[in-house]
Amino acid sequence: MPSATSGFTLYGDVPAADAPSGLLGIGHTAVDLPTGRIELLHPRDALDQIYQQNLGKGGDEPPYWAQPWPSGIELARAVSRADVTGARVLELGCGLALPSLAAAQGGARVLATDRAPGALAFAAHNARRNGIRLEVAQCDWSDPWSAIAGAPWDLVLAADVLYLHDGLDALGALLPRLVCGAGEIWLADQGRAPARDFLAACERWATVGTTGTADPEVSVHRLRRGGPLPR
Ligand SMILES: C[S@@+](CC[C@H](N)C(=O)[O-])C[C@H]1O[C@@H](n2cnc3c(N)ncnc32)[C@H](O)[C@@H]1O
Repeated sequence: MPSATSGFTLYGDVPAADAPSGLLGIGHTAVDLPTGRIELLHPRDALDQIYQQNLGKGGDEPPYWAQPWPSGIELARAVSRADVTGARVLELGCGLALPSLAAAQGGARVLATDRAPGALAFAAHNARRNGIRLEVAQCDWSDPWSAIAGAPWDLVLAADVLYLHDGLDALGALLPRLVCGAGEIWLADQGRAPARDFLAACERWATVGTTGTADPEVSVHRLRRGGPLPR
């Protein structure tokens, strides 16, 4: 018997998008990481839907959360190579939450957040499906109480969030409130246009270090308040 939750319908514990969102059908992506394989279920034709809605250029944000983006995959790889055992980790704009799943698989205690209910439904489902313990919470950067309530975090993750949208100022104001001391923020980005100015503004309060990834288009930017970044 299906049950409705946050605009989605759960069939058993498998989320399926309600018809009005236009996302129909479930796809599957497997990602092999040093910490193990993660099997992701996700809406199948998200890119088509994103493309159609961008052409329409009106109304709600397209379902960007529903696609496993290259930045999310590379950030998950970076996290899975780090020692995060016992760390308290927050992910912002998690979408399908692959970096969160990688951190939790590596022994961290992780809260994955997004403003899109569909993202949280799939993140929670994929965690259960992979036998990974993960907490999820709704968090819009303009009203980020769930992120701030848990601060300071040891590690804050965000992949592909520096594209052109109306929440960038709120995100820029939020980040310095989330870490202190040795806490770090890792932002993965595939050279989106707003990233350069966003990171330049972050240099007012953080040391910023950038490393490339296996994907030549994706970089991981590490931010730490005051003080150098350890290698
Ligand atoms: C391009 S997607 C990236 C998803 C995922 N991090 C990945 O790399 O696959 C951007 C994500 O940011 C989320 N997002 C956009 N604006 C937001 C806001 N103001 N507050 C919270 N999340 C937001 C979207 O819902 C979406 O999941």
